[in-house]
Amino acid sequence: CGIIGFAGNVPATPILLDGLERMEYRGYDSAGIAVRSEHAGLQVKKSKGRLQMLADLVDGGKALDGTLGIGHTRWATHGEPNDVNAHPHVSSSGNIAVVHNGIIENYLDIKESLEQKGVHFSSETDSEVVAHLLEFYYKEHGNMLEAVSHVLGRIEGSYAFGIICSDYPDALIAARKDSPLLLGYSEQGNYIASDVTAIIKHTRQVAYMDDGEVAVITPTGIDVYNSEMVAVEKTVRTVDWDVSAAEKGGHPHFMFKEILEQPEALHKTISPRIRDGRVVMDDLQLDPDYVKNISRIFIIACGSSYHVGMVAKYTFERLLRRPTEVVLASEFRYSDPLVDETTLAIVISQSGETLDTMAAMREAQRRGAKALAVVNVIGSSIARDADHVIYTWAGPEIAVATTKAYSTQLMLMNLLGLYMGDMLGTIDPQEYTDIVAAVEKIPAQMESCLADKAEIQYYASRYFNHNSIFFIGRNLDYALGMEGSLKLKEISYIHSEAYASGELKHGTISLIEPGTLVVALGTYEPLFDKAMSNMVEVKSRGAEVLALTTELCRDKMEKNADATICIPVTHPVLQPSLGIIPLQLFSYYVALQRGCDIDKPRNLAKSVTVE
Ligand code: G6P
Repeated sequence: CGIIGFAGNVPATPILLDGLERMEYRGYDSAGIAVRSEHAGLQVKKSKGRLQMLADLVDGGKALDGTLGIGHTRWATHGEPNDVNAHPHVSSSGNIAVVHNGIIENYLDIKESLEQKGVHFSSETDSEVVAHLLEFYYKEHGNMLEAVSHVLGRIEGSYAFGIICSDYPDALIAARKDSPLLLGYSEQGNYIASDVTAIIKHTRQVAYMDDGEVAVITPTGIDVYNSEMVAVEKTVRTVDWDVSAAEKGGHPHFMFKEILEQPEALHKTISPRIRDGRVVMDDLQLDPDYVKNISRIFIIACGSSYHVGMVAKYTFERLLRRPTEVVLASEFRYSDPLVDETTLAIVISQSGETLDTMAAMREAQRRGAKALAVVNVIGSSIARDADHVIYTWAGPEIAVATTKAYSTQLMLMNLLGLYMGDMLGTIDPQEYTDIVAAVEKIPAQMESCLADKAEIQYYASRYFNHNSIFFIGRNLDYALGMEGSLKLKEISYIHSEAYASGELKHGTISLIEPGTLVVALGTYEPLFDKAMSNMVEVKSRGAEVLALTTELCRDKMEKNADATICIPVTHPVLQPSLGIIPLQLFSYYVALQRGCDIDKPRNLAKSVTVE
């Protein structure tokens, strides 16, 4: 979900609507705003569905004046997406409005006790209890800040709040625990937002709230308090992202724009980290003695970041000769993992806010591991709580389906593998030199993959009507297939699965019928012949085979597949960096043909801050 709030000296509604639009990728089941004005008091408007419905409801801002307000775009957890369950939630008197991200775990207990006192609830959400509980304490103490402090003492779970009260014409109150929230400072007023993209149009001066902090935002300043209500000084940072980076810039979709941005994004990830043929990590202070003592590595992540981990597992074991396990964050957390001081936990997260990843990282740290985070969003929660952080520098990624973040994560993991392997002396010097040289060529090779869009568009038009698609591959191609399959299903809604080619015969092959589309990945040259045999197995059962391979194996592939896409050759460990490009484009064009909402696929959110 996304939160924005504004206290200033210009109309709030246009600022709130614009900020919500920029954060719509965080959830888009419903949206709402609350604005306080001198003559009309506190007014709340909310609507199920996309933000445009809310914008129409308030006539783009004309129907709702006032210079103080909060807004929310929702990704439903408790209660279906409808008008009533949309935020802001309002107390019984109508005087207090609240927007909330996160989950109040003990909301049922609180709800019951408030209901016994005669409070009437209108929604099914956990968040509504906060509005009523605030009113309860406000009536008791007559001071909003005190009421907030009492509420925070009562609730359990995760939250980022934006709160306004009609008795306070100038102030908005914010609080955070385990859910991102930042403060923005400008001449025309001050802001809260769950994501910097929501306010970057107005200011680059931001401070990140820490867990347990409460902030009072007024048009002239922001006061921040810790959980004991003692005032704290925040460090204000300047965000160097460009506004245009968060806009479509003439492209039909953010996803398309971000696919095209990959060579440049990779260049930014790579170029500061290679000097004179050696990988340097100026942003990483790893003690060589510590590295030599690492007995085991866990790579922990969710979604596409997990698929990066799948590739990296192969690469790390090859370059570091250390047991490396890749685990889904939501599974790691409750698996009683075997972690000690000699364990390194590498967490991968574009947003740096994924709750499962964050919680898994903390669990690993609690058990003695050091956490090294590979993150895109600077200053995000995971970046701040990790022991070490390296940034992918991909710039803001807006489309829900990740592309440039995936590619930069993949590359950064390769660089990290080279860097640590060099420290350990586990990489053959020639292989080290070859991989580094190959890394430097990747952005240009990626450009050439992107130049072949028409061919991929043609295959998309040929296959977009299939209702089940399989991706098969071995080793790195298996990991690549996992991501290719996820990209396709998340934006085109076609059922799709990825299988290790060798595993197909143990069950899945029974799903192959005449005409079933199988995307056969044969880019990993060392195992090409094996992959080819598995491809022939499905072909002989009637599958239609769309193959992906490199120039090295093109001839052999073309003899067996129905259609072949060919990518340039690089070092085998880097091949997925090029292989992903046609798969992203294929998903994009298939979804386009099917008329899907590419940047905002149904039921998904880009940044998932609930468990
Ligand atoms: C969501 C997104 C995925 C993403 C995953 C992990 O589910 O829809 O695209 O891969 O979260 O996100 P993270 O920000 O931690 O990389």
